[in-house]
Amino acid sequence: CGIVGYIGHREAYPIVIKGLHRLEYRGYDSAGIALFDGKELNLCKTKGKVADLEAKFNGTTSKAGNVGIGHTRWATHGVPNDVNSHPHYSNSGNLVIIHNGIIENYSSLKKELIKRGYTFQSDTDTEVLVNLIEDVMINEDVKLGKAVQIALNQTIGAYAITVFDKRKQNELVVARLGSPLAIGIGENEFFIASDASPFIEFTNNAIYLEDGEMAVVRLGKEIKVRKIHDDTLVDPYVQELQLNLEQIEKGGYDHFMLKEIYEQPSAITDTYRGRMLVDEGIIRMAGVDDNIERIAKAKRILIVACGTSWHAGLVAEYIFEDLARIPVEVEYASEFRYRNPVIYENDVVIAISQSGETADTMAAIKLAKEKGAFVFGVCNVVGSSISRETHAGAYTHAGPEIGVASTKAFTTQITVLTLMALKLAKYRGTISDSDFRHHLQQLEAIPAKIAKVLETTNEHIKEIAFKYKDVSNCLYLGRGYNFPVALEGALKLKEISYIHAEGYPAAEMKHGPIALIDEQMPVVVIATKMGHYDKVVSNIQEIKSRKGKIIGIVTEGDTEVKELADYVIEVPDTIESLTPLLTTIPMQLLSYHIAVMLDKNVDQPRNLAKSVTVE
Ligand code: G6P
Repeated sequence: CGIVGYIGHREAYPIVIKGLHRLEYRGYDSAGIALFDGKELNLCKTKGKVADLEAKFNGTTSKAGNVGIGHTRWATHGVPNDVNSHPHYSNSGNLVIIHNGIIENYSSLKKELIKRGYTFQSDTDTEVLVNLIEDVMINEDVKLGKAVQIALNQTIGAYAITVFDKRKQNELVVARLGSPLAIGIGENEFFIASDASPFIEFTNNAIYLEDGEMAVVRLGKEIKVRKIHDDTLVDPYVQELQLNLEQIEKGGYDHFMLKEIYEQPSAITDTYRGRMLVDEGIIRMAGVDDNIERIAKAKRILIVACGTSWHAGLVAEYIFEDLARIPVEVEYASEFRYRNPVIYENDVVIAISQSGETADTMAAIKLAKEKGAFVFGVCNVVGSSISRETHAGAYTHAGPEIGVASTKAFTTQITVLTLMALKLAKYRGTISDSDFRHHLQQLEAIPAKIAKVLETTNEHIKEIAFKYKDVSNCLYLGRGYNFPVALEGALKLKEISYIHAEGYPAAEMKHGPIALIDEQMPVVVIATKMGHYDKVVSNIQEIKSRKGKIIGIVTEGDTEVKELADYVIEVPDTIESLTPLLTTIPMQLLSYHIAVMLDKNVDQPRNLAKSVTVE
């Protein structure tokens, strides 16, 4: 979910609405706003998108007021409908709250409150929380800030909340545990949001609350930040933001996803800039350099991640084992955290996360730390929770990724992990000097090669998309380094076009998926020259003889696959370990064009969210 708040001298409505649009990538089942006009609290909420909320506002609710809080939801407790949407009132109607996260013990709290006479309109944990705060205010006769603190200390779960009391028109109370929350500081005005994008045009100064902190944000006063559990005052760190407006706008592209696909050449350049000194044959990565003994001597590397980041982890498994000769295991963070894994003190855990906020990945990190492992983070969002929780790390520097289907985050994660593997390989003596330099040169050439793929294949891919847009199933095959790319290609298609797709190691096809192949079934096969080419060609023959439709992703100049396939998409040649950075691009474009042709919401596919801060 995404939350936004404003308190100050401007009209709150346009700021909050615009903020919600920018945060909509975090969830878009329903949306709502509460505004305070000095006398009344006006609340409007609806199932659906922020645009539906605007439409509803126009017909019904006053937009006046200098205080406002808004929410865009990814449903956890309670189906997405008008009533379950945020904000939620307390029973008296004095308090109003927005909440991102889950209160796990809400049902026992709710029972207690019902005994005390409270009633509930919705099925949400959030309505329980706001009434708990109200109950504390009444029974313990304390102010809002104190009541929020006492109430939160009775909860188990995760949250980023903003609470407003209409009897206290100058203040908002905010708190976080597990879900991000930033406070933008203007001239006698404050902005609250899940990330800084809603207020970037108003101020460059922000405080990011740490986990377990809360703040009373009062006009005309300094912000007081304290620890929720023991009330100690914390000196808040006011950060200067690096984000600019251009980065969070579409810049002429129809969708964020397309913009982000096209940003990959510059994003990858930003990832290796300053880290890779090709002429000198050096890789500098502060997080690795400072801990080189610990990391290079690891008996084992465990990679934990979710979704697309997990696929980047699988590619990294091939790279680390191949180049640095360190055994690697890759796990879904959600499985790892609950299965009592064996973790040794000399293990190194690498957590990969675009957002740096994914709840399962965070929990896996905490578990690994408890067991004494060294945890290294690969995140995109600077200052995110995971980047702070890990012992060391490397940012991908891809810039904000807003499209829910991840694109540039994936390729920049692979870039960072390649640099790391090369660095370790050199330190461990598992790569020759000349090979090391050759890898650097090849990596340096990747952005231009991606630019070429984008330029030369896009129109052709549109034709292929048009041809296959109406299928209900699609198979993706690859071997070696390109097996995870097949998984990622299938995930992209599922996510945004809702076409069922499966990724498989090409040789495994004969152990099951081959039964699905008939003349209706398109099979995307990655068959680049580098990497088991002949074996993949045999797999293509097997598909062909069962009348499957073949879309081959091949190396420029290929002739063999061209003869067998219905379509081929060419990518430039490179060394095997870097082929994923090129073969991924046509897959991203293929799913993008299919989704557009099917008139699906590319940037905000149904039921998904960009950043999943619940488990
Ligand atoms: C969500 C997103 C995916 C992403 C995954 C992991 O499911 O929709 O695109 O890959 O979370 O997110 P992270 O921010 O940890 O990389």
